[in-house]
Amino acid sequence: MQIKIVTIFPEIFDSFLGVSLIGRAIEAGRCTIEVVDLRAYARDRHRVVDDEPYGGGGGMVMKAEPWLEAVRDLAAEASWRVQLSPQGSRLDEAKVRELSGRERLLLLCGRYEGIDERVRKLVVDEEISIGDYVLSGGETAAMVLVEAVARQIPGVVGLADSVENDSFRHGILDYPHYTRPRDVEGLAVPEVLLSGDHAAVARWRRQEALRATLTKRPDLLEAAELSDEDHRILGRLRGKQ
Ligand code: ADE
Repeated sequence: MQIKIVTIFPEIFDSFLGVSLIGRAIEAGRCTIEVVDLRAYARDRHRVVDDEPYGGGGGMVMKAEPWLEAVRDLAAEASWRVQLSPQGSRLDEAKVRELSGRERLLLLCGRYEGIDERVRKLVVDEEISIGDYVLSGGETAAMVLVEAVARQIPGVVGLADSVENDSFRHGILDYPHYTRPRDVEGLAVPEVLLSGDHAAVARWRRQEALRATLTKRPDLLEAAELSDEDHRILGRLRGKQ
């Protein structure tokens, strides 16, 4: 997969692209990520990319022309052009998986009050928000999107299994995890995890994932992929609530 990110703060991405999962994905040739400075597409000597808003008020608005030039220069036929913005549709696991199936992504990171609306109309395929709050720019949102998408690229996460088991993969939350020591300040590891009975461990994990979802995010249960056994477990858990 090829990802290009356009921003006026390319340096924000330096450590993000160098370390951990993303760094390894790039090194292993699973994806290429290019960060491009929008100012390279500014026409004037001072590389100005913002201007006052028509209608007055508020802060500055990013000018259309540098964005149009950048996107047209950097996007290939197959590029899916995404503008990060609080006005976008919310990023969730289904959207992440859909994006990970694209060959090329071009991410537009706005700053200030936003980008001139005509950019969205002329060259953007989709606006995406990472949540209902306002960030100072799309860069941190782009990092969230890139990390979530990269996890879905085959071979990027060491154990294919750990993506398969990720929270949200089947629409419910993850089960609780424990490691040594067995006792932490009086809280013991659940016995079943020490039993060596793999089937019992799997049943317990499914039950605890359902319990976590029921108590923390019951809204997820409506769209989750649930078996008859899951419904039985939920019935029992609801009885105890
Ligand atoms: N830019 C500013 N706020 C944002 C958000 N919540 N999601 C995506 N991009 C943004």
